[in-house]
Amino acid sequence: MFQKRIFSGVQPSGNLTLGNYLGALRNFAKLQNDFECIFCMVDLHAITVWQDPKEMARQTLEVAAGMIASGIDPTRNILFNQSRNPDHAQLAWIFNCVARVGWLNRMTQFKEKAGKDRENASVGLYVYPNLMAADILVYKATHVPVGDDQKQHLELTRDIAQKFNNDYAAELFPITEPLIFGAATRVMSLRDGTKKMSKSDPSDQSRINMNDGPDAIADKIRRARTDPHPMPDNVAGLEDRPEAANLIGIYAALSDRTREEIVTEFAGAQFSAFKTKLTDLAVSVLGPIGSSMQRLMADPAELDRILDRGAVKARELSAPVLDEVYRTVGFLKS
Ligand code: AMP
Ligand code: TRP
Repeated sequence: MFQKRIFSGVQPSGNLTLGNYLGALRNFAKLQNDFECIFCMVDLHAITVWQDPKEMARQTLEVAAGMIASGIDPTRNILFNQSRNPDHAQLAWIFNCVARVGWLNRMTQFKEKAGKDRENASVGLYVYPNLMAADILVYKATHVPVGDDQKQHLELTRDIAQKFNNDYAAELFPITEPLIFGAATRVMSLRDGTKKMSKSDPSDQSRINMNDGPDAIADKIRRARTDPHPMPDNVAGLEDRPEAANLIGIYAALSDRTREEIVTEFAGAQFSAFKTKLTDLAVSVLGPIGSSMQRLMADPAELDRILDRGAVKARELSAPVLDEVYRTVGFLKS
């Protein structure tokens, strides 16, 4: 009953990381042949944590450049920045009235991001998942490719769609399916194998940025935390070895092979030898992407035009949905 449609978002809140690439962007590029796709730089989400206004525009264009450099074709897909289509924020308000406080209280990302000083977190950070549900459902998107960390938010999106449909006795929204695939759906920090690799980590050594040069990549991988044992000879041997598991997962994802194959290839090897190979591989994949990002960033006006055109197309799709929602809720409409 619902047309297959993909939506996904990336926050323009800093450098894109290898986690963004392996968990999200690379998968977006793989899906563009089979689905109608909408990819969004979610600037409204980014400001749930303070962002320097002088940096916002550049960061937004950089995420767009990262998407295009990862193989996403802006002529076949819709690329735009979220704030350019006000329909997201309007539907988000309605979802603020559908979602329950108890549901949001269970969100682990809020707890992590708010930290100990929860009283001081922005209200936007708390209702962030409602806006995310609006991003998706304002297009009636049926499939959402994301990294593993977004699973809980997508469950909330499904709960919101279901409750809205029940409360208003309308089959208005689809129950969206997450698409979480690849050998590295959760890339971990290079400094701590139990923490997610993140663009907002204060330590740049904890992550590989998509536009890092060969020297930075080599240095970060060389200094990545490991344990004193050689590589295991089967995947079960990665249990309780988070750093080894992370590096093997990265290697597998970058080479489009399975973790089993990589473990077999490097069974018994020392980390130093493995790290040299991993560096070569990472440089061979990220090098061309970084250069392409740099070329695209040299013409910010063209990137801005792409996002502007994308926003017009996005609004053509969302306006009738928002209209239908307003009528369903009982709002007077001209
Ligand atoms: P964000 O940078 O938080 O806006 O995330 C954008 C996309 O990248 C989402 O689909 C995330 O799930 C994905 N992502 C971010 N960090 C990682 C990571 N460390 N491993 C895998 N996927 C990630
Ligand atoms: N919350 C997502 C993240 O931090 C970004 C995001 C916002 C998103 N809206 C979305 C992802 C809609 C998928 C669909 O990674």
